[in-house]
Amino acid sequence: MMRCLQLAQRAEGYAAPNPLVGAVLVHQGRIIGEGFHQVYGAAHAEVNCFASVSEADRVLIPESTLYVSLEPCAHFGKTPPCADRVIRERVQRVVVANRDPFAAVDGKGIDKLLAAGIQVDTGVLEQDAAWLNRRFFCVHTRNRPYIILKWAQTQNGFFAPADRSRLQISNSWSKRLNDRWRAKESAIMVGTITAINDNPRLTSSYGHVPLRIALDRTLRIPATHQLLQEGPATWIVNELEAGNSGSVRYHKLPFDDRLLTQLLDELSAVGKNSLIVEGGVQLLQSFIDQGLWDEARVFIAGDVDSNGIQAPRLSEALHCADWPLGDNRLHYYIHNNNSYAPGTLGLHSLDL
Ligand SMILES: NC(=O)c1ccc[n+]([C@@H]2O[C@H](COP(=O)([O-])OP(=O)(O)OC[C@H]3O[C@@H](n4cnc5c(N)ncnc54)[C@H](OP(=O)(O)O)[C@@H]3O)[C@@H](O)[C@H]2O)c1
Repeated sequence: MMRCLQLAQRAEGYAAPNPLVGAVLVHQGRIIGEGFHQVYGAAHAEVNCFASVSEADRVLIPESTLYVSLEPCAHFGKTPPCADRVIRERVQRVVVANRDPFAAVDGKGIDKLLAAGIQVDTGVLEQDAAWLNRRFFCVHTRNRPYIILKWAQTQNGFFAPADRSRLQISNSWSKRLNDRWRAKESAIMVGTITAINDNPRLTSSYGHVPLRIALDRTLRIPATHQLLQEGPATWIVNELEAGNSGSVRYHKLPFDDRLLTQLLDELSAVGKNSLIVEGGVQLLQSFIDQGLWDEARVFIAGDVDSNGIQAPRLSEALHCADWPLGDNRLHYYIHNNNSYAPGTLGLHSLDL
């Protein structure tokens, strides 16, 4: 099952809104096939696993155990049901880490296997597998994307100079790590002042680029800014205008107390499983104050001092771990109602 999770993780950033799933077929202690769900819309892990079995080993499939990190699906989606395929291959035993919370599956895949006389064991490495799929599980159990907050602050608790100009707090290691993190998420967001003053690109050099979102109530971001140039899909959330201009969609919403929840609903509706929020302090604090976050990743710089704007104040937070990153230290928190907890494997998946 550990191997299933390793395989599944390779599709981070590509499988969404589908889950990350890995499958391994074992005959008397020897792996004869393995596969993972590589990209949204393409073959599922079980199908890729069966396809990888050599011609000579195909005869061994009915005597083998299939390990799969998520319950085989039972429905016709973009591909036919994997549970039917497992039954057709006459596998004797299936070991599953997590039951699939998605309503069209939710136990029906396991029931199909049991009804076909297959031995099914569940719950193996359940916690690690759930952590790996926390974005998918969050959408299906809490009806909103999984939310990650990320910022850098000085050791004395400051976030930005008083004039809100750009101050480089993080170092090259933390920036590189953040670049990788962006590639794993479905969407990335900043507030208006950050969009204007920092002029960020919000892209990643690791392949997948998330949907870029900036709040801009009165459309103040200059047209020459990077977010408004032709490029990755971008939503400018505002109160004035709806419509598209190239890759930029002007998304009109009322700027009231429900703004963030409404935006999250719309992100779920278009299949965005996760959102990373990268500042500024006002935007981060509004997510925190509304209890809308699951994970926070805070870089603390050792030798930069500032005074000006105080860093966000986390509440209802559990400190999980911290690591040195050159002269920065990364502090890692989860919200205390986050049902998923990173085990050793989960912390490893942060790419540190
Ligand atoms: N240290 C870091 O990691 C980091 C990261 C990013 C940015 N920064 C720095 O932070 C500073 C900017 O921070 P900031 O707090 O001033 O700006 P911000 O959060 O980027 O933007 C604030 C503006 O965004 C809109 N906004 C934010 N949250 C909202 C909500 N929940 N609902 C409706 N509108 C919302 C409001 O615009 P309206 O007033 O138009 O309604 C608000 O004035 C800059 O100096 C930047 O360089 C630091």
